[in-house]
Amino acid sequence: MTNSFPKGFLWGGAVAANQVEGAWNEDGKGPSTADVATAGSREVPREYTDGVQPGRFYPSHEAVDFYHRYREDIALFAEMGFRAFRTSVNWSRIFPNGDEAEPNAAGLDFYDRLVDELLAHDIRPVLTLSHYEVPYGLVERYGSWRDRRMVEFFARYSESVLARLGDRVDHWLTFNEINAITLFPFVPAGLRFAEGENRDAVIYQAAHHQLLASARAVELARQYSPGSQVGMMMLYPTTYAQTCHPQDALERVQMMRPHWLFPEVQVHGRYPSWAEAFLRGKGVTLDLQPGDAELLARGTVDYIGISYYMSVVASHQDGGEISHGNIAGGFRNPYLAESDWGWQIDPLGLRLALNELNDRYHKPIFVVENGLGAYDELTADGRVHDPYRSEYLAAHLRQIHAAMTEDGVEVMGFTPWGCLDCVSMSTGQMSKRYGLIYVDRDDAGQGSLRRIRKDSFEWYREVIATGGASVLKD
Ligand code: BG6
Repeated sequence: MTNSFPKGFLWGGAVAANQVEGAWNEDGKGPSTADVATAGSREVPREYTDGVQPGRFYPSHEAVDFYHRYREDIALFAEMGFRAFRTSVNWSRIFPNGDEAEPNAAGLDFYDRLVDELLAHDIRPVLTLSHYEVPYGLVERYGSWRDRRMVEFFARYSESVLARLGDRVDHWLTFNEINAITLFPFVPAGLRFAEGENRDAVIYQAAHHQLLASARAVELARQYSPGSQVGMMMLYPTTYAQTCHPQDALERVQMMRPHWLFPEVQVHGRYPSWAEAFLRGKGVTLDLQPGDAELLARGTVDYIGISYYMSVVASHQDGGEISHGNIAGGFRNPYLAESDWGWQIDPLGLRLALNELNDRYHKPIFVVENGLGAYDELTADGRVHDPYRSEYLAAHLRQIHAAMTEDGVEVMGFTPWGCLDCVSMSTGQMSKRYGLIYVDRDDAGQGSLRRIRKDSFEWYREVIATGGASVLKD
């Protein structure tokens, strides 16, 4: 283990349904929040239109056509030696409007085939029940997660998925980056606001509904997928106090609270002691109903899934230049490099994240997202030479290994983000690529969709084949 990762370590890759599948209105699928997101860029924010508007370009509608090409893609994952593949189930494939009484059989059939194809290649599916898409019908009719009825709609959806796939899937995640609701509320939760409304009141009430829904899904997983492990999943922004000024240290705690709130509830099964004052400070009084506390207490998770891309800086005063790229906010850290999209690169911050989570929650941690969004060039030799990507991943893997061997953290596996190039969540671009596999498609949706192995593909194959020893010896 000192020179490699443990035998059962889950090496693999991760994507999300709405960013790869395409086929946005095929086989009965309804539109989702992801399907109303236009293309943007680092400078131009994506627009979330009111329904699908004719004549607009929506990158998720075709994405990289995984819906039709999953067999070819899974064969490539198997060639790299994947033991796990994380994707999500697209809610609006199963319940097109979200509030139907019965699921769409064709939607369930697709995931059934997908799971079987993975298992046939000895790849374990890691399935997220909700990854950044909500059936658009639920946004229109109920205002999405601001409405408590969403808990029942989500439970009905989860039950359909778990009943169908529960016998073959042994790793589940309930909500992707559940804490992101406080950062950009439409993408994970379909929230829109009326003028003058207390946004925090809406956000934290919607978060409460998601936490209840997560607990319901955990309970259903225990019933339909016995023996499986169910995780919560959060975006982890390691946060540094800018100086040793005590107020900066306090600012850091305050910046982390909106993030910690979620594992507090999902791991411990109750709101932490600081939650009430924290929410009151934002003018929020949660509508807690009889039975909520008991449900949260019953629906606790087995492990913590994290995405890790960046660290952030907290300051109690003007901390200098704001880091505009970092989706988690904060000030620029002069000690760190950044990606072409301004995300500050900090491998050691991942070791700190793993330690902090381990110290607080004592649960196994699965790094289910990490990676470098970068411009790639398909060169004249028909290849993509992307040493920057393997260097980035190697540096993060070394820190995971250090956390495991030197700090005693239990890390279950590593599934780098966008193992197959896909539509960027924040910008809608194809040119912000994370993949080990290149997909021939550009920002305007043009291209053959052909798959090409990047240099990082060969690099990762070697990493997996050597149990990680190849990155540890460098
Ligand atoms: C995470 C999301 O925040 O980061 C993914 O779970 C997303 O859906 C990934 O794609 C990378 O972000 P982006 O904006 O570069 O695609």
